[in-house]
Formats: sequence, C-alpha cells, structure tokens
Amino acid sequence: MSAFERALAEPGPRPLPPEVVAVLRRVDAPPRLVAHLRLVHDVAAQLLDWLAEAAPGLVVDRAAVLFGAATHDIGKAVHRRELSEPGSAHEATGADLLRDHGDLARFAATHGQWERPDATAEELLVTLADKVWKGKRVDGLEQRVAALLGGGREPWEAFLVLDDELTRVAEDADARLAFQAAFPVD
Ligand SMILES: [Fe+2]
Repeated sequence: MSAFERALAEPGPRPLPPEVVAVLRRVDAPPRLVAHLRLVHDVAAQLLDWLAEAAPGLVVDRAAVLFGAATHDIGKAVHRRELSEPGSAHEATGADLLRDHGDLARFAATHGQWERPDATAEELLVTLADKVWKGKRVDGLEQRVAALLGGGREPWEAFLVLDDELTRVAEDADARLAFQAAFPVD
C-alpha cells in the first residue's frame, strides 16, 4: 500500500469525506498533508459535537466546517515546501484547486485570517481546529469563538467553558503530532 493510501486508511482520526478523498487523489496530495487534514477534520468534528451540546442555539453549517477542515491546506499539494516551512502561497492556490466546490473553497483561502472582523462562525471553527489539534492555544481566536456560544453566559463564563473543551482536545496533541510525522512529505 502506498504512503498516500496508508495516510487515508491508517486507524486513528475519523475518515475523510469521500468527496474530499477524490480531490486529494486528483491533486496527488503528499501523505503528510493527508494525515494533517484527517487530524484537523477529526478535531473539527469533535468541536462540532461538543458545540451541539454546549451551544444548542448556535446555528453552524456542520458540513461546511467539516469540508473546510478537511481541505484547508490543500494548496500545500502544490506548494509542498509549506508543509515544513511557514508560507501563505498555499492559501490562494488551495481555493483555486477547490473552485468546483463553490463557496466551500473559501476555507482554503481564509484559514489563516481569523482576525478579519467578518470571519464567520464556520471559518473561526476551522481555524480553531487547525490550532488546537497540536495543542496551540490562541487567546483572541478563542474569545471570538466563546462569543458565539450564547446561552445567556457572561463572556468570562463562555471562555471558561470553551477552555475546558479545548484543554480536553489538546491532551491528545502529542499523539496527533506523532501520527502526522509518521507520514512522508513526499
Ligand atoms: Fe493546517
């Protein structure tokens, strides 16, 4: 089995949606990228499940968040150096690779820009999943997500509730980093 197929099938994070797997095949995604997208997609699904309980009044396009998490870095199939070095060339390229997916392509372009005042709940959640999978905590981003929770909570209260969940998710960060690192960049 190729490293690409192993990255798709290795037990661990939940499987990627079939329409995303098709795109990853088309762009010949590197195995490490596939592993990364599985991890962020899995964390996004955990956050959505938690939100459904913790913030039942919050309307979120679940399918869009899952698609966005599963594709956000797809431009790194082209800009492969950005798998191991910082860079943002993958963002516009990623949106272009997903142009057949209409509005869902936006996550590839926006996942690095959570500070935009008009970032949507869906965009904030994709970016949050892309941080907390490896245990990275970003105060300003978390404040914006906490503000979505509603339910009559005070801002500090919402922040603490979110913090509990993110602390729980981050506990598995080392195992996720090891999973991702086990797959080659090429
Ligand atoms: Fe990412």
